[in-house]
Amino acid sequence: MPQTEDIAPSYPIPRAAGCPLDPPPLLGELRERRAVSRVTLWDGRTAWLVSRHEEVRQALRDPRLSADVRHPSYPFFSQGQVATRTMLESFLRMDPPEHDRHRRMLTAEFRAARVEAMRPGVQKTVDRLLDEMVAAGPPADFVTAFALPLPSLVICRLLGVPYADHGFFQRCSAVAFDRESTAEEIRASREELTDYLARLVASKAERPTDDLISRLVVDQEATGNLTRRQVVNLGLLLLVAGHETTANMTALSVLSLLRHPGQLALLRGRPELIPGAVEELLRLHSVAHNGLPRVAVEDVEIGGTTIPAGDPVLLSLTAANHDPRAYDDPGRLDVQRTARAHVAFGFGVHQCIGQPLARLELRVALATVLRRLPQLRLVDESLGNLGFRHSMTVFGLHNLPVAW
Ligand code: HEM
Repeated sequence: MPQTEDIAPSYPIPRAAGCPLDPPPLLGELRERRAVSRVTLWDGRTAWLVSRHEEVRQALRDPRLSADVRHPSYPFFSQGQVATRTMLESFLRMDPPEHDRHRRMLTAEFRAARVEAMRPGVQKTVDRLLDEMVAAGPPADFVTAFALPLPSLVICRLLGVPYADHGFFQRCSAVAFDRESTAEEIRASREELTDYLARLVASKAERPTDDLISRLVVDQEATGNLTRRQVVNLGLLLLVAGHETTANMTALSVLSLLRHPGQLALLRGRPELIPGAVEELLRLHSVAHNGLPRVAVEDVEIGGTTIPAGDPVLLSLTAANHDPRAYDDPGRLDVQRTARAHVAFGFGVHQCIGQPLARLELRVALATVLRRLPQLRLVDESLGNLGFRHSMTVFGLHNLPVAW
């Protein structure tokens, strides 16, 4: 009889029924047994799961773990992802030096001062969305009225994508990043999204305007640094990464604060705590909940386990951010905790390039919502009545009914 700890559980591991906000209990058990465990992927292959904070950070810095999606043993989460792997090609899924060359083309766009200059625009958008929500409600669905349109509007403005098309690209990305979608559904929606971006890039090439996609066309494509297809893939990556993640973090943050009135009151009384609270909420929710996919290109020793060259590896940000070795009582929301060194944005060469923008949006959104809606409350206290995004690449909420 095999020991329970020798059986590699199916991955991703489901959350416990009734506790959709907590990490899956089995994930914590695996982490407490050893720093590196074996898990079984949807296609029956096994992968190595790294789950402790120190080891995840070590792995994210290790150049022997490749993020290159073209590697034959790259770990995908569904047949649909395999079928559309070439559409994922962007620097997120490349290794240095190719990765660094592409990433450098964007660093100026996300530099702290450049992002800070976006603050008045972000504040205006936040105020307008809240005005509209208040005028139409209560009640309101906080996701569709605020959490989703805010980052969509911001990223559309930055990239030069017409916001009027948001319904279309949000629908396509919802299908493309759901592991329950069929391969055919994923292929069709990825193709639609790619065609849409290709048409947009073509129009920018003809008539460049003051936006990021036009700058890529003029400064990088026209000078031979990027192909047209690479510009399209970059636009796609930024469009999707720029709104799904921040939208879900915004909704989860408001949900958590409404469920912790003491913490909410503390923030209302001391808004200077909001930047620290945002880090704590990023840590607590770790919306990139499936973990980061990598492949060992050489034998790599992590936490006493040797991962052989060629094996798929998953780095669990959720398990690392809930590691009691790094954070006391990690499941507790503590807005005064200094959630130092959390890995919600990853770490190492692929660490999120959009994090200054995500932080700006989350800080402005939370500060304004708490100040303007002192009576904000959940329509229904029961988590069971909310739609959680269990099967999506980015964890979060489909809806969040609120009143005030
Ligand atoms: C709360 C919001 C966000 C979270 C939690 C988040 C999370 C992450 C994580 C975990 C990674 C690392 C992936 C890996 O190593 O495989 C990443 C990379 C990336 N993110 Fe974000 N992200 C957020 C917001 C944004 C925004 C607003 C943008 C763009 C405007 C963005 C664009 C990117 C890009 C382009 C990469 C690839 C970086 C590279 O490979 O060098 N993200 N993000």
